[in-house]
Amino acid sequence: MDKQLLAHMANRYGTPLYAYDGSMMEAQYNKLKNHLPEGFEVFYSVKSNPLLGICQYLRQLGSRIEVASLGELHIAFQAGFDADDIIFTSPGKTREELEYAVRQRIYCINVESVEEADRIDEIARSLGQIVRIAIRINPSFNISGAGMKMTGVPTQFGIDQEHVGEAIQAIQSLSHVDLAGIHIFTGTQILDAGNMVANMEAIIGLFLELTENYSIRPDFLDLGGGFGVPYFAGEVPLDMNKLREGLAEVWTTYKDQLNGVRIGVESGRFLLAESGVFLTKVLYTKECKGSKYLVCDGGSNQHASSAFLGRYVRNNFPMYLLGKEGDAREEVNVVGSLCTPTDVMGQKVSLPPAEPGDILVIDKSGAYGLTHSPVLFLGHALPAEVLHVDGAFHVLRERGKPEDLLRGQHPLQLESHLQGV
Ligand SMILES: Cc1ncc(COP(=O)(O)O)c(C=O)c1O
Repeated sequence: MDKQLLAHMANRYGTPLYAYDGSMMEAQYNKLKNHLPEGFEVFYSVKSNPLLGICQYLRQLGSRIEVASLGELHIAFQAGFDADDIIFTSPGKTREELEYAVRQRIYCINVESVEEADRIDEIARSLGQIVRIAIRINPSFNISGAGMKMTGVPTQFGIDQEHVGEAIQAIQSLSHVDLAGIHIFTGTQILDAGNMVANMEAIIGLFLELTENYSIRPDFLDLGGGFGVPYFAGEVPLDMNKLREGLAEVWTTYKDQLNGVRIGVESGRFLLAESGVFLTKVLYTKECKGSKYLVCDGGSNQHASSAFLGRYVRNNFPMYLLGKEGDAREEVNVVGSLCTPTDVMGQKVSLPPAEPGDILVIDKSGAYGLTHSPVLFLGHALPAEVLHVDGAFHVLRERGKPEDLLRGQHPLQLESHLQGV
């Protein structure tokens, strides 16, 4: 994003702040959509950023939506998505979540076990409905090249390929579910287009094998995704031309056999990571036992990914200081204000000399930023989140207030033995 614009946003909305660029989101959405074979649909994975305004924006761009909780399902409806464009995936859907999804007649519930299918069948029977479900499979192949693998290894996700035949037969015996789809999500942060294509081809192969072996006629194939973005030195962007050519070739081979099947891919990171930045102000600069620190007003409580929490690589996110361009550099640790040594957003980062009041920008923060962070830890208010699009600013989340920490809490009403202690 333009640096002057960011400086303006930091000034106008304060820090810490998430700033999003609508034109970049649009470009990423179109890039993905236009490199997929015609007719493939993109389902936005809300988990990567559950801001209502972002969901609305992506819907206007043409996206469908993938949710993973009742909260996300509510956001999807609030954002105006048709039930027919919503799919629901999660290994631990509660009865309440399933019942709501069934009542709302969403397009497909991706089930992760036969027990879950049984539960849906029971709910559907009590409501007099037939519910579309897809089986999520944990395949035996593992060619994803993903930064974080979800298949081919033991996980809580899906049904093992070795047991999928039994699962299909068990599900076929249920009277109120329609085995309408197959879903495989192999992992996230895939940067190799060849792997991505091989992966999707293997998924299509498995889909066709299952339809033939078990005489099922699913009309939905969720190919997953995991489209990555380069965060760190040495990582290269996904080669989109190679992806397009590879998928086009696969599609030519299989499209007749997949005639009438709705094909979806899921994406969060690719659509959003590069469309947002995190802005935080340097509060203090200090030195401790030979190391330099920039102590900032935002931290891992608001941007856990940057602080290596739950990430697969311990590298610094790309970051820079607004308005500081010179050649002079120093090695600093960028930290937040939490009372824990893990609150480090950048380790030994080379930056121009900083002073209190400077604004630090952490790039590639549009996905898995606030949503992936332990926001209650130490009770700081939530940062504001603002979208810039077509020359206008849209506050999508107001800055929180210190008293928000008390929301939903009840004072202890104890007339107890402790009184007078
Ligand atoms: C089932 C499923 N779909 C979609 C996604 C989104 O992945 P990404 O943000 O890499 O596109 C994930 C991420 O973990 C996932 O588990």
